[in-house]
Parts: sequence; C-alpha cells; structure tokens
Amino acid sequence: MDIAKIFEDNASWVASRIGKDPGYFESLSQGQDPDMLYIGCSDSRVTAEDMMGAEPGDLFVHRNIANVVSNLDISAMSVINYSVVHLHVKHIVVCGHYGCGGVKAAMQSSNLGILNPWLKNIRDIYRLHKDELNAIADEDKRYSRLVELNVQEQCVNVLKIPEVQQAYRSGKLTMHGWVFDIASGKIVNLEIDFAKVLQDIEGIYDLD
Ligand code: CO
Repeated sequence: MDIAKIFEDNASWVASRIGKDPGYFESLSQGQDPDMLYIGCSDSRVTAEDMMGAEPGDLFVHRNIANVVSNLDISAMSVINYSVVHLHVKHIVVCGHYGCGGVKAAMQSSNLGILNPWLKNIRDIYRLHKDELNAIADEDKRYSRLVELNVQEQCVNVLKIPEVQQAYRSGKLTMHGWVFDIASGKIVNLEIDFAKVLQDIEGIYDLD
C-alpha cells in the first residue's frame, strides 16, 4: 500500500466533491443526522458505504470481528445507545458476510488465545442451534448457515437492550438482518421475523 498515494487520492476526492458542490464540506461539517446504524464485520472486503451506495452522513457505523453485539462490549453498547437515544436512527442493520473468518474460526475447536472470549459469542450460537447445524452434512453450507444464524442472534442481542426495545415498540425503529455475499457483491436480506423473535424472548429480556 502506497501511503503517499492515499493523500493524492484524498486530494482528488476533495477536488471532485468541491467540483460538484463548492459548499460540500462546509455543510458536512455542520453535523450528522444518519438514518441508519450499520453493525458489520471488520473484514476489508465488506465496505458498508460502498456496497450500499451510501454517502458520508448516511450511516453510523460499528464494525468488529464477525459483527458481534456483546452486552459486555462497552464500545458496541455505546454506539447503539448513542445512535438510538441521541441520533434517533430509524434503522439498525446487522450485516454479516459469507466467508467470514471470525465465524470460521469459531467453528473450529482450537485455542486461539485472546480471540477465545470473542469467538465464544459465536460458539454459543453454534450450541444454541447445534441440532439444525449438525444436520447440514455439507461443511460449506453449515458454515454459511452459521453466518446467517450469527446475524439473527446479534439482532436479538440488539433487541435485548432497553432503549432499543423502547424505540422499537414505539414504531420509530426497524431492525434488519443482512448477509453480504462477497462472491456476487449482493446484499441478501434474511427477512427475519422480528415480531416473532421478540415474542419468543418476551418475559426473559423484557426490560422496558
Ligand atoms: Co467477517
């Protein structure tokens, strides 16, 4: 990677934006009002804005290994709280991707050091869905299914948060579970039935 070229490309990008709209950066600096919180994987191939055709200011973004939402992760919890309570985002999307290295690593029973507690989040999801997953003979298909189930369970983790429940029940917030298919470039909507998901966990995680 040529660092000098990054600054050249940045200068061209600035020139191109100003060329189209001389006041572009001035108005961008006035503040943000994004409609969506995007929670995705850190994978270098899954670029939130690019794949969605989003512009600066459109997305509030949180990325980590395997798009995990853990209630012990102060960073993720702060991002969700800030975006829901202060930015009033209308949509939260958890977007996984096929071929996710974090999910693959969680499928292997090996000691991965500092990654262990993080991958435990995904190993727990395997355990929760082990009957369905173990019934899939093809390893690649089982892997892809765990990617999807990971998205679903991370959406559930988002919905366990009281301020999210409040916004969700008031109808101001919509949840989405997606998977990015790197091999085709397409975003797959998992069309998770969140009303049913909420019904299933009602009484256990009902905090608001
Ligand atoms: Co990944």
